[in-house]
Amino acid sequence: MRIAILTSGGDAPGMNASIRSSVRVAKSLNWTVFGVRRGYRGLIYGELDEMGSRSVSNIIQRGGTILRASRCKEFETEEGLLQAKRTLEAYGIQGLIVIGGDGSFRGAVALSKVWEGQIVGVPGTIDNDLWGTDYTIGFDTAINTAVEAIDKIRDTAEAQERYFLVEVMGREAGFIALEAGLSGGAEEVMVPEIHTDLPEIHKRLMQGKQRGKTSSILIVAEGNQEGNAFEIANKLKTLCGSDYRVVVLGHIQRGGSPTARDRILATKLGAYAVDVLAEGKATVMVGEVKNELITTPLEQTWSMKKPLDPYLLRLNMVLET
Ligand code: F6P
Repeated sequence: MRIAILTSGGDAPGMNASIRSSVRVAKSLNWTVFGVRRGYRGLIYGELDEMGSRSVSNIIQRGGTILRASRCKEFETEEGLLQAKRTLEAYGIQGLIVIGGDGSFRGAVALSKVWEGQIVGVPGTIDNDLWGTDYTIGFDTAINTAVEAIDKIRDTAEAQERYFLVEVMGREAGFIALEAGLSGGAEEVMVPEIHTDLPEIHKRLMQGKQRGKTSSILIVAEGNQEGNAFEIANKLKTLCGSDYRVVVLGHIQRGGSPTARDRILATKLGAYAVDVLAEGKATVMVGEVKNELITTPLEQTWSMKKPLDPYLLRLNMVLET
């Protein structure tokens, strides 16, 4: 069998571990493997290189993606899709592994309508917002990075008796905010999925002050309905006169060496993607739910909305007191 692998959209720590696993498992089956450079852009422009087991040596610990990634607007056009199909046909590719998030999977489904080969998705995004897997590759590393930063901010917040607003990634999903907030002991967590009631937050912070709290850390997901961290700081200032220091963690959360958890998940899912291709399945995403490897139709990974864990949300409310 001849297969190709690409990484697309926002890169995530652990993508390399997934590439390594797919390449080595495919080579153990004597398949021919190509790496596509720069995601779908590489499919359009024919940027493919043959990969062997040695080409993925010493990458399990590296963040980013050796194949590079991009957000490719051209791939959203019919001509772009047809050009990608022509490239796949020219290389005789029968199976394509797409490592990415929901945008990448939307592209994969569009490609499946014009190309007859099998496409298997591997969930690679720090956002953890895909239905069909408990965790996505990169999420664990991202929350560990965020928590490390939150711990440092807490030191100075406590020393100076200040309030901090820390903005984490997640344009449409609050998974990073919730889990980084919970593990960083944040006083408040504001996620895009739930209405943010600033007067209520102010009230709770004042109650905390009366109980003897001298500093507080509020976590804001970048996609919060009340705006970004700077806008929320301004609104809180108008509401209660308090000054908030703002820290935007930004793309730091996307980089760095993947945690062991992410490497293991990536290794399992990269291998399973090859198994699924061997079984003849197509247009599915591999995932792990309750410790079991499963497949989910690609379209469901974004059409079904993965909810934030209600238990963690409730717990956060109790613990922040
Ligand atoms: O999807 C991953 C992600 O890091 C989001 O959390 C964030 O909103 C977005 O990508 C940022 O994208 P870009 O790097 O293209 O600005």
